[in-house]
Amino acid sequence: MVSDTGTGIDEHVLPKIFEPFFTTKAVGKGTGLGLSLVYGIVDQHDGYINVKSRPSEGTSFFIYLPLITQLVEAKDDKGTGVAPGGTEKILLAEDNEAVRSLISMVLRENGYTVIAAEDGLQAIRLFSEHAVDMAILDVIMPKMNGKELLEALRKRQPSLKALFMSGYTHDIIQEKGVPEQGIDLILKPLKPDELLKKVRELLDS
Ligand SMILES: Nc1ncnc2c1ncn2[C@@H]1O[C@H](COP(=O)(O)OP(=O)(O)OP(=O)(O)O)[C@@H](O)[C@H]1O
Ligand SMILES: [Mg+2]
Repeated sequence: MVSDTGTGIDEHVLPKIFEPFFTTKAVGKGTGLGLSLVYGIVDQHDGYINVKSRPSEGTSFFIYLPLITQLVEAKDDKGTGVAPGGTEKILLAEDNEAVRSLISMVLRENGYTVIAAEDGLQAIRLFSEHAVDMAILDVIMPKMNGKELLEALRKRQPSLKALFMSGYTHDIIQEKGVPEQGIDLILKPLKPDELLKKVRELLDS
């Protein structure tokens, strides 16, 4: 249980608090993703979450998770060590600097040419200057999200291959309606081997 003695939540608001992007905070103050992320994580572990709230008294969240009765074997995280590379040109749109340089580095070290953009507008500009073979797009970015960006890019090159990356859980992304047919998604934090495999698969498909 997590409790506070805050403002509490109005009964009209209560049914909506787990919805992605629902917020009562001022524009620019809240993302409305806090509780939907919590919900997604709890749900992925086959648990559930309850909320009790009294206006002006406070709010309590109750999280229930299933008990594990069997020993869980640790997964081997080392990967295969034989991640495939390539020589194609890839457009990368990612607003987070650290993630952008990490992905660029991994791709470049494995033979690819990377055109990196920090937002959708820059990505569109770079796209018109370079012939790219595929695009790797962050789902949530300021100015223009990944879906809008891909629409703009596909107006110019309808067959463009695209891989979405997101730090948000599948559930939330699906509710937001981002992945459509023919669109692949990879979840952050990205493992270099996984990224390289997925990129190769897409390019070869
Ligand atoms: N502890 C709380 N006390 C009162 N209201 C809450 C509480 N937690 C959430 N809420 C209500 O639920 C809404 C959605 O919460 P959520 O955490 O998803 O987004 P947020 O808090 O608005 O944004 P962010 O998490 O990005 O700051 C809030 O805007 C608020 O109205
Ligand atoms: Mg919050």
